[in-house]
Amino acid sequence: MSIQILIGAQWGDEGKGKIIDLLSEKMDIVARCQGGANAGHTLVTNDKKFVMHLVPSGILYPQTTCMMGNGMVIDPIALMEELTMLDSEGISFANRLFISDRAHLIMPYHKVLDTASESKKANLIGTTGRGIGPAYIDKANRNGLRMGDLLNEDTFKEKLSQNIKTVNNVLDKVYGLDKLDEKEIIDESLEVSKKIKQYIINTSDYINQAIKEKKNILIEGAQGNLLDLDHGTYPFVTSSNSTAGGACTGLGVGPTHINSVLGVIKAYTTRVGEGPFPTELLDETGEKIRKLGSEFGATTGRPRRCGWFDLVLAKYAVQVNGISELALTKLDVLDNFEEIKICVGYKYNGNTITSFPADIEILKKCEPIYKTFAGWQQPTSDIRNYNDLPTNTKIYIEALSQLVDTRFSIISVGPDRKQTLFTRD
Ligand code: GDP
Ligand code: IMO
Ligand code: MG
Repeated sequence: MSIQILIGAQWGDEGKGKIIDLLSEKMDIVARCQGGANAGHTLVTNDKKFVMHLVPSGILYPQTTCMMGNGMVIDPIALMEELTMLDSEGISFANRLFISDRAHLIMPYHKVLDTASESKKANLIGTTGRGIGPAYIDKANRNGLRMGDLLNEDTFKEKLSQNIKTVNNVLDKVYGLDKLDEKEIIDESLEVSKKIKQYIINTSDYINQAIKEKKNILIEGAQGNLLDLDHGTYPFVTSSNSTAGGACTGLGVGPTHINSVLGVIKAYTTRVGEGPFPTELLDETGEKIRKLGSEFGATTGRPRRCGWFDLVLAKYAVQVNGISELALTKLDVLDNFEEIKICVGYKYNGNTITSFPADIEILKKCEPIYKTFAGWQQPTSDIRNYNDLPTNTKIYIEALSQLVDTRFSIISVGPDRKQTLFTRD
């Protein structure tokens, strides 16, 4: 039996989906604990690609139960689209997909408010426009709607009607936008709710029972360490706790049950959306990484900003999440570089910083200090054993592992499940 948390160790899109899919074969339960359809987790098997936004990435294995925890914010319309896609691919989820009765609902007005709020911000965040921030605002403000509310139509209609009235006031008075059609939203929500009611349960009861039965559970984090509301590059973050701590609150599981934390980290760094990024490469090297790594958002299609591996932020991720082991992904993307760099510290005001700063005004001015490695300039995508990797690749991985002071137990050399090397069982 084991309970493992998997989190992104950078700014999201580290390849979590691929690693979760891979590990799911041996899992009884894969459970998402936070975020919503801002996530885009890509799974590739036998040249077939699936992008999951809400449904956990264990869904491709028919024996694996998939759970959407209370910490999530779920857009029922986006969920229906995803379930329809799975259905059309012949992937059955009956009796193995469960949604927490405490998970919050994203309503159409959250998406409208997300876009409206971005348009007014002097420093826009570059959100995914999926209504995430406004839904978590309602949750913290204690007027959010939860999955459990769908089970009582009258109360649901009453709360929803009240919320739409309030939002319409804001749209009109604050943003000068047209009001939303209350009846249309209520009718559409009730229609969709008919289809998802059957999946709603008390997931905390379910998962804790599974823990008693000594099942194998993988907790799927979305986003990444630096997008965490508390520990990330605030305010350029998402609105949930995407660090390991969010897994316990987001599922109703006590911390004493957690056995390990697996951090997923790319062999370089990317970021999508606004905010400081010390190792960002705004030159042809950055462009080359983007092209070779197909670095375009799985949710919004936006080009991802690219740069070298940043040790300062990697060590910070290990510290904040208690990462016990790392999965190194997209190593193959670096196959064709003459030299490869690792940022080992920042220069700020003439001093060297090795601790990740909280103040983004400082972070913006940090200049990376690089250690340069010779590239291997050989393909790695078909290699399946660590010892068969080119010597310079092993030098790079071992230097990274030593510098981060954490073992890489999984190394990924391509998007497919098969393109993976394990350095231990
Ligand atoms: P996630 O949000 O962390 O699940 O990551 P995304 O799915 O948004 O982005 C990762 C992208 O890299 C996807 O297109 C994956 O198919 C792809 N990918 C994952 N691992 C590897 C790898 O080792 N090599 C290459 N070339 N692509 C990978
Ligand atoms: P996965 O799970 C990368 C970023 C957005 C924006 C900021 C806030 O695929 O790794 P939001 O819509 O959450 O309010 O946007 O967070 N962001 C992500 N970046 N991967 C993600 O998820 C992301 N989810 C949100 O681009 O900068
Ligand atoms: Mg993604």
